[in-house]
Parts: sequence; C-alpha cells; structure tokens
Amino acid sequence: MEKVYILAIESSCDDTSASVLCNDKVLSNEVANQAVHQQYGGVVPELASRAHLQNIVPVVATALQKAGINKSELSAVAFTRGPGLLGSLLVGTSFAKAMAMGLGIPLIEVNHMQAHILAHFIDEGQPKPSFPFLAMTISGGHTQIVQVNSFFDFRVLGETLDDAVGEAFDKTAKILGLPYPGGPLIDKYAQEGNPTAYSFGKPNIPALNFSFSGLKTSILYFIQKQTEQNPNFIAENLADICASVQHTIIEILMKKLKRAAKETGIKHIAIGGGVSANTGIRNALQALGAQYGWHTYIPKFQYCTDNAAMIGIVGYYKYLQEQFVGQEVTAQARLSLGR
Ligand code: KG4
Ligand code: ZN
Repeated sequence: MEKVYILAIESSCDDTSASVLCNDKVLSNEVANQAVHQQYGGVVPELASRAHLQNIVPVVATALQKAGINKSELSAVAFTRGPGLLGSLLVGTSFAKAMAMGLGIPLIEVNHMQAHILAHFIDEGQPKPSFPFLAMTISGGHTQIVQVNSFFDFRVLGETLDDAVGEAFDKTAKILGLPYPGGPLIDKYAQEGNPTAYSFGKPNIPALNFSFSGLKTSILYFIQKQTEQNPNFIAENLADICASVQHTIIEILMKKLKRAAKETGIKHIAIGGGVSANTGIRNALQALGAQYGWHTYIPKFQYCTDNAAMIGIVGYYKYLQEQFVGQEVTAQARLSLGR
C-alpha cells in the first residue's frame, strides 16, 4: 500500500502541536504547552495567539525531525479549522496554508471535535471502536455525547448548555485556591477523600444535555459559608471536598451516558478529551461497562488532551477520500460537528 505522510497542526486553544503520521501510525507528536496562562487561572486568548506564533515554527520543525521525515516527502498538510479561539486557530490555519502552498501538496481542514473522537483510530495495536459507537468528549472546552456512524457521519445527541466539564473542574480548583488547570489536582486529592462527605445539587437538564454552571455556583456558596465558620475549612478538608465534587461530576456524566446507551441501544462506548484522564471517570466507565456489557474505549493520555496526532488521523482518512480544501479556507471559531 502507498505510504501517506500527513503533517498535522493543532492550535485551537492553548497548546501548539504538530504531528507526523505515516498512514494511521504516529511518527511524532510534539506539544508545546503555554505556561503563561497559569497566573490568570484560565486561558487568555490574546496571550494564547502570541504564544502560538512563537511556538509554531520550532514545534513543526521538531515534529518533522523526530519523525525522520523531510518536508518534501509529505503527502498533505492537515490543520484544525475550528472550533476554538479564533486568534489561536488563525495561527495554525495560516501556517498550514502557507506550508501546503509552498510544498505544492493538498491541504486538509479538520474539525477539532471530530478529531477528539477519531483519536481512537490512531493505530497502536489496540482494539478500535466499531461503528456505530457513542463518544463522550469531555475537556476544558467541550462536553458532548455523539453517535458516530462512520468516520464522517456524526450525530450530536447532547451537549453542555453552558460550562464544559473541564471548566467545572478548573473553576472549582480556583475556588479552592489551586493553580490552573486544576482538574488533575482535584483528581489527585480526590483519591484520598470521601466522595460522599458533602453533597452538591445536581442539575435537572432535559434529554442528553448537560449544565455545569449551577454546580460551580453551589460549590462557591458552600465554600464561602464553611470558611466563614472555619477559615481553615478548605485546608482541613481538601481531599473530601475534591472527592465529593468529582463524585458529583461523575454522576452527572454517567447518568447521561447510560441514558444515551439505553436510548440508542449502542454498546460500544468511547470517551476522549482531557478530562477523560480523570481516574474516577475512567473507573466509573469501566464499572458501567462491566455492569451493562459495554465495550469501552479510552485513548492514551497523550491522545486525550489537545494534540496534533488526532488531527493527523482525521487528515489521513480525508486524504484517502481526497477531501481537500483550497487556499480560500478560513478558520472558524464556531464549527459544528456533522454535516
Ligand atoms: O482536552 P484538553 O487538553 O483541552 C481542551 O480542549 O480543553 O483538556 C483540558 C482540561 C482541563 O480543564 C483540565 O483541568 C482537564 O482537562 N483535566 C482533568 C484531568 N486532566 C486534565 N480533569 C479532571 N481530572 C484529570 N485527571
Ligand atoms: Zn480539545
């Protein structure tokens, strides 16, 4: 079979990433994180664009070098067109367009959410989901349940009406005085805490949609009230608070996932996005899988968080179908999944 070499570029949020794939295998996957946002407790869009500008050339050069590929051997350039922060997307989009034009090779636009889902097809010898499957994408920017009928046929069954689940983790962490991004820290402290120590109201959202802004507010009021009575409340109960918050979030997610599985009759269930690194969520998914006879799929951590390899795998499947775009293509902050 012909070897297809895709250079993929991802710059939708605060990670600048470049990857080289040979067919469905990853040769390199470079990610430059942006520490600049830590002190602000969240991503500052203007600072993100500037950091992408600084990072993109070295990140692409390193990805090519680690892959052992000369740019003249590339078959196509794939890039994230959206959704994401417009200024950030513009950097990757412009770079990809210039590179494809300079090399005289096809250009492939990729939807970031499709990439989170198809990351499961990056070949590392693992079992791949079979169609149709359900994909729950959970990250700092997204919370969706999608029915995946084929590589190119998606139906969004439900999504968040306000905050993404990662924001619920990060904003809780901020309330607790933990640095950004707080999700991994909440996960860590939760492992030593009691998940039923405190209870927080769960939102009653219709169908398969989610809402997390109310949870954040109830956590804020709870913490304010407790620290009025005991200024050391957070320090003394950090593990229990984290475990209880995480437990609430897991219950919200798993309830909808169970409902989606029941309504569609689909038993192949995949999760992706940065929040799927969460230990509690992984355990809960596996437990439900055992209980309901689901086949569950969780990508490797480096393919869960934002990365260019997932853009590359979509690029590869689009390349096979000659789904190319011209130089007139523009970045799109809002881009829906599916057609
Ligand atoms: O996919 P990602 O890298 O970027 C976005 O597209 O947002 O996801 C980042 C999000 C952050 O909100 C971070 O706090 C969360 O994923 N996260 C976690 C864990 N690891 C990363 N949340 C909970 N538990 C974790 N172990
Ligand atoms: Zn993402």
